Amino acid sequence: MSKTQKPVDELSAEEAADELAALAAEIARHDRLYHGDDAPEISDADYDALRLRNAAIEVKFPELVREDSPSRVVGAAPSGTFGQVVHAKPMLSLDNVFSDEDVTDFVASVRRFLAFPADRELAFTAEPKIDGLSMSLRYEGGRLVTAATRGDGTTGENVTANIRTIDEIPQTLPADAPDIVEVRGEVYMRRDDFIALNERMAETGRTFANPRNFAAGSLRQKDPEMTRSRPLKFFAYAWGETSAPLAETQFEAVRRLGSWGFRVNDHMAICRSVEEMLARYRAIEAERASLPYDIDGVVYKVDRLDLQERLGFRSRSPRWATAHKFPAEKATTVLNAIEIQVGRTGALTPVARLEPVTVGGVVVTNATLHNEDYIKGIGQNGQPIREGRDIRVGDTVLVQRAGDVIPQILDIVPEKRPADAEPYVFPDKCPACGSHAVREEGEAVRRCTGGLICPAQAVERLRHFVSRNAFDIEGLGEKQIEFFFNNEDPSLRIRSPAEIFTLKARQADSLTKLENIDGFGATSVKKLFAAIDGRREVPVSRFLFALGIRHIGETNAKRIARHYLSFEALRRGASEAEIPQGKGDPGNSAWQELVGINGIGAIVAEAAVEFFAEAHNREALDALLKEVTPVDEEPVGDVSSPVAGKTVVFTGALERMSRDEAKAMAERLGAKVAGSVSKKTDLVVAGPGAGSKLKQATDLGIEVIDEDQWFERVSG
Ligand code: IVH
Repeated sequence: MSKTQKPVDELSAEEAADELAALAAEIARHDRLYHGDDAPEISDADYDALRLRNAAIEVKFPELVREDSPSRVVGAAPSGTFGQVVHAKPMLSLDNVFSDEDVTDFVASVRRFLAFPADRELAFTAEPKIDGLSMSLRYEGGRLVTAATRGDGTTGENVTANIRTIDEIPQTLPADAPDIVEVRGEVYMRRDDFIALNERMAETGRTFANPRNFAAGSLRQKDPEMTRSRPLKFFAYAWGETSAPLAETQFEAVRRLGSWGFRVNDHMAICRSVEEMLARYRAIEAERASLPYDIDGVVYKVDRLDLQERLGFRSRSPRWATAHKFPAEKATTVLNAIEIQVGRTGALTPVARLEPVTVGGVVVTNATLHNEDYIKGIGQNGQPIREGRDIRVGDTVLVQRAGDVIPQILDIVPEKRPADAEPYVFPDKCPACGSHAVREEGEAVRRCTGGLICPAQAVERLRHFVSRNAFDIEGLGEKQIEFFFNNEDPSLRIRSPAEIFTLKARQADSLTKLENIDGFGATSVKKLFAAIDGRREVPVSRFLFALGIRHIGETNAKRIARHYLSFEALRRGASEAEIPQGKGDPGNSAWQELVGINGIGAIVAEAAVEFFAEAHNREALDALLKEVTPVDEEPVGDVSSPVAGKTVVFTGALERMSRDEAKAMAERLGAKVAGSVSKKTDLVVAGPGAGSKLKQATDLGIEVIDEDQWFERVSG
């Protein structure tokens, strides 16, 4: 970069685009030098200046933000130099709570799920939440065989060679350890080691922003000897697969890990009430600054492992644990602009473009402003927030960044408001297609009514369709989608999902070859076509998620797909379902089946039904199904259980478990739980006070058992 650079305000769009391209390449090169080769060429300050310049240009020219922009690429991308490891048991994350009230709610929800009486003692462990990287260490026959990062929870990176260099991690376990055991915990770096090493590195080049990044960079080294030179440590606090139980309680199990030579945290304590948990939280918070390592909260876990087992998991986190986070990091900066983004469902979302600012070690340039009311100073319930203060362009704002979530604007600094700052007027027209943007009563979100004619929505739908958790088509990033979407040449145009899959055939018959177009080239075109062809078969859950139906995110898509198993059955079910009209209407049986799926309520069901009822969706779907085959889902849960594949209805009072637990248990055993009795019901579990459902079951000749018989059946 030249020393005499133009002020950002004076750049033309063309100059800005060129500079962003150059910066992306330059920063990527320095990242490689730094992370991959451990041989930085420039100082930390120079490196930061490059990133800041990049951020400043992006604020001014948001439409030029590149797919490979350094502001989007956080740290070094998965290097690809490490193999992958599929975790024997998924590595889950934790739910976060922030207030005392949330902790009370958490304990109450655990008690409710377990139907645990208020007067019966329920113990939790409380321990620091270490700010490092989670790691799973697999031991077989007492020997460390693999070490893997968390990755996406299902698959992580194999970092065994690097982990073996950490002194604190035992290579072998004593004879009393189970034959197979996965010890899980956090790799971290002590703050004093971090400071000392960072100082030494400052002489040669670049430094790390915090111990966590340093630990992450150290683990990613290609050369294990490089990792060896970094003082990494490890706290054990959990486990994955084990061939024999470790203990009866969390506390004892961790103590056992300690007895095998793992470092365990000595701030872990047992708490027997919410008050004790909160007292522990405050005690740990008070010690935070004097601890030699970074922590970002306190983790509470149900102590009894049999109760943990009963509580089980939600999609991404256990029901038996939660993280009570310390307050997030904050900073002030200037709000340069408010930009409206149009999502795939037409939602207009205001995004704050900020004067770049470092919040807790990360440069922040964008933050969410949630919605129209939020900008005005009105909260979700219609009550004033920030004492009614609105947010205006030019304001000095307070930005908060908590963990990995999108930064948000909390408040403004009223004294710093420029005299000419005007209240922000939220557009009532879609910035992309000009259609009216309307806000329905009771909704916080304003939506573009352009539907199919709105290019922003269409582009977002396509982007969603090819995204990682949907069709996962590599080589079709934002830029490429826009290129194909806006192309007038019929052999190069993609306006619907099906057209992605017909591109290759259209290209074959065309003289305008993609490979001759700037930014494409023969190899990348070949790769793109291979990536597309590789997705002609996808699981039903991905297929459904990719359709981008409102309220059907990944989790709901999985729930629905695993219920119907085939796409045909799913489509039939949703097409036949009739949305109830008014209160007394229970809907037809197809509707009942849909809302009977665990976790699927009326709002989600309605969105699905409406989607399949819409003629143009059906057309688009038929076209897509000519190109792509959804692969049936495997039935989940324990297929060997006596209730696997059965449809079960619970009715009346349950005495040994809550309704939620009953449902979760049945599903774990591979049963479907329905809310009402129909011909499709296989089994009714009736407790005292059962009424009409019991009668219906008897009338239909369906097997009825009581709660004790249920336990006998599933445990036998
Ligand atoms: S328990 C099934 N305990 O926090 C849940 N996690 O935000 C197992 N973490 O991915 C995790 N300290 O990397 C647990 N004392 C602690 C922890 C801890 C840090 C990390 C862990 C996890 C993340 C979730």
